[in-house]
Amino acid sequence: MTVIGGQWGDEGKGKIVDWLASRADMVARFQGGHNAGHTLVVGNETYKLSLLPSGIVRGTLSVIGNGVVLDPWALKAEIEKLTAQGLSITPESLQIADTCPLILPIHRDLDALREDASGKGKIGTTRRGIGPAYEDKVGRRAIRVCDLAHLDSLDPQLDRLLAHHDALRAGFGEPPIDREALKEQLREIADFVLQFAKPVWITVNEARARGKRILFEGAQGVLLDVDHGTYPFVTSSNTIAGTAAAGTGLGPSAAGFVLGIVKAYTTRVGSGPFPTELHDDIGQRLGERGREFGTVTGRKRRCGWFDAVLVRQSCAVAGVTGIAFTKLDVLDGLDEIRICTGYKLGGRTLGHLPAHAAEQAAVEPVYETIEGWQQSTAGARSWAQLPAQAIKYIRRVEELIHCPVALVSTSPEREDTILVRDPFSD
Ligand code: IMP
Repeated sequence: MTVIGGQWGDEGKGKIVDWLASRADMVARFQGGHNAGHTLVVGNETYKLSLLPSGIVRGTLSVIGNGVVLDPWALKAEIEKLTAQGLSITPESLQIADTCPLILPIHRDLDALREDASGKGKIGTTRRGIGPAYEDKVGRRAIRVCDLAHLDSLDPQLDRLLAHHDALRAGFGEPPIDREALKEQLREIADFVLQFAKPVWITVNEARARGKRILFEGAQGVLLDVDHGTYPFVTSSNTIAGTAAAGTGLGPSAAGFVLGIVKAYTTRVGSGPFPTELHDDIGQRLGERGREFGTVTGRKRRCGWFDAVLVRQSCAVAGVTGIAFTKLDVLDGLDEIRICTGYKLGGRTLGHLPAHAAEQAAVEPVYETIEGWQQSTAGARSWAQLPAQAIKYIRRVEELIHCPVALVSTSPEREDTILVRDPFSD
């Protein structure tokens, strides 16, 4: 099965993925890099993961597929941090595709240089070098994990990579790349990464043939997908479920049940259109009650009402089978709750997000208002424990997004979950 974010990321994937990972034989990341941020709370420990699949916390075999861009130094730092928290991360518990492209320091530099030079066109990236690394992959200039075992013959590849980057850097007034220093950095980190390197496509295909349960763990969200999201304010990978197959080396049927994680309201980090964004007390309240600060960058998230137009679109383009509805308790105590059901644009009514960024920024949300609930939903574990109005809200969301609810999550605790349909039993 595959778990993806149904909005702009930060939908609360960590808890759901952890819960599902405890029942999976293998957890696989298939896109993105250490721009992601998953927080897992297990007992008294809080684990913050960026690059590693969530299975690593419970010792489930974790794989990083070819679709991920890998920063070797970030990998090492994350492993060291988790090891200090008592986890054991070994080649038996972690495999990394030998075809993963590397994020190098020059990618991080370029990400920051571009953002700083972009004025109002700034994307608001995580500055982790994700975009530049994917560009080099597609441009056939990337240094990959397998190259770390062949550093003595890297020069022809470096010629191509450096010719490209030196020209870009010159445009920013930066000095050319120090080739020998870069090689030395790679030499120092090579063995650490290579101990985990494997042809991951074999691992996942064998697991599938043996009927093992593979959990594909998406990062970011559908609205940040490079094709289907709010371009150009997106990340540089495909975040939809289909990428699970291409990003690990399996056929297109690999995704299985697609669980879209959807928050009961909307948030976004970074720049870009956000039709239902709230700049008032309610927006402030959602941010505070929902603790809406980025796991990776600590940035404050923008908050707004639930946008059924966007989520309907996400569920359609990503092929979502059912959603996990999260953070419902953040809406507790509101007198009224609004749901965006359509957009107005220059006298027209739209049922989808237009493609052009300027139109996306200009659409006016059309709202439906429903009465809120005053009781607490926090910790509910069955429908019977939810106030009638909360159930009405969930049912209306299902209707508007054309997709059923499979799970409702009512607190960060694993057990505080209402299971409607088990994604693993499909
Ligand atoms: P990049 O992925 O660092 O290039 O950033 C591109 C956009 O995606 C920015 O708006 C980021 O804030 C956003 N983004 C990247 N990763 C995440 C994530 O894990 N959660 C939420 N937003 C993200």
